[in-house]
Amino acid sequence: MTKRQPINLYEYEKLAADLIPHPEWDFVEGGATDEITVRRTRDAFDSIMLRPRMLVDVDQRDLTTTVLGEKIDFPVMLCPAGHHGRAHSEGEIATVRAANEMNVGMILSSGSSVVMEDVASASTRPIWFQQYFYRDRAMTELMAHRAEESGYSALCVTLDASVQSKRERNIRNNYTGLSTPNYDGMGNEEDFSVRSTYRPSSDDAPTNVSGLVSPKVTWEEFGWLASKTDLPLIAKGVMTAEDAQLAVDHGVKAIIVSNHGGRSLDSTFATIEVLPEVADIVNGRAEIYIDGGIRRGADILKAIALGADAVLIGRPIFWGLAVDGSDGLKHLLSILRDELDSTMGLCGKPDIQSIDRTVVGRKSPLLDLI
Ligand SMILES: Cc1cc2nc3c(=O)[nH]c(=O)nc-3n(C[C@H](O)[C@H](O)[C@H](O)COP(=O)(O)O)c2cc1C
Repeated sequence: MTKRQPINLYEYEKLAADLIPHPEWDFVEGGATDEITVRRTRDAFDSIMLRPRMLVDVDQRDLTTTVLGEKIDFPVMLCPAGHHGRAHSEGEIATVRAANEMNVGMILSSGSSVVMEDVASASTRPIWFQQYFYRDRAMTELMAHRAEESGYSALCVTLDASVQSKRERNIRNNYTGLSTPNYDGMGNEEDFSVRSTYRPSSDDAPTNVSGLVSPKVTWEEFGWLASKTDLPLIAKGVMTAEDAQLAVDHGVKAIIVSNHGGRSLDSTFATIEVLPEVADIVNGRAEIYIDGGIRRGADILKAIALGADAVLIGRPIFWGLAVDGSDGLKHLLSILRDELDSTMGLCGKPDIQSIDRTVVGRKSPLLDLI
């Protein structure tokens, strides 16, 4: 690390902006159309206030928890996000090293810069794999099979990117995306024709993959996939109680409340706004994680208070990697951990289990008075 070390995630973001080439930076930071969801997802955290309790013994604080039975040191995981190579030459190898050393979860994107088998063998702790429901079921099955064979311990299926969104920064930059080694040599003839007719700009999946994702499948596809793999299935992109109920009905073990960081559909609610309705309907039948705009330890506490078992970070992965590779990402994660630790202590919450809805409020007490 040269010069002054960043002290929060926003300082990492500022530094990274000067290190990642402009079109790539716009790809990472940007969202769909007016980026209303990007802003709302972040701002909603700031509108939630804390209700701290005093004289609770918080001398010993325990931030550890489990996700699908795997212990992590604090309730943070790394989102599936395509091509870490755009931030650092080691790509996801640097990422997995940071996740290992900080003992947090990681979900590898099917659009990674490094082939999934190599990332799995570089990992010393359980990691999960993200894929899609493809038009070609054989491809869905093959990706799941490769993930299982190479040692991933859960399969995350992303549901909210089966139709291309309009990302105006990418259109303006004429950004054509990157290809991923995970799909090399895959696909039938029809897929190849999809590849050649790809219109640049929008999916997180690299150029030759976005057309392969099926806009046709329905919830039954989870039952079919469960019959093809022993891995627990996670549904990423749930934004309503109705879909959370369907996800549980179709056997998923965990739900990620996500709006794809505002990169898919614009004008959705913030994820933190819909988390309570999801948590209420799921009622302990599946684990619940949330992503989108998590930038402070207090955001993590707010998410847990409103029903999440853990949170994920997306764009900050690129910031940490760009600034100082694996060490940068490790340091960025340690900032989140330390902020969560002090926020828990100051709120009178000695461990993750003690964080409940009474610690957050949104309506000013003054509204009842004046
Ligand atoms: C550059 C980039 C690439 C992404 N690629 C994927 C992907 O391949 N699969 C996926 O499910 N989500 C992908 N996402 C979405 C993230 O998993 C996550 O939902 C979102 O980034 C969370 O919001 P945050 O960036 O505000 O933390 C990507 C996000 C970014 C920023």
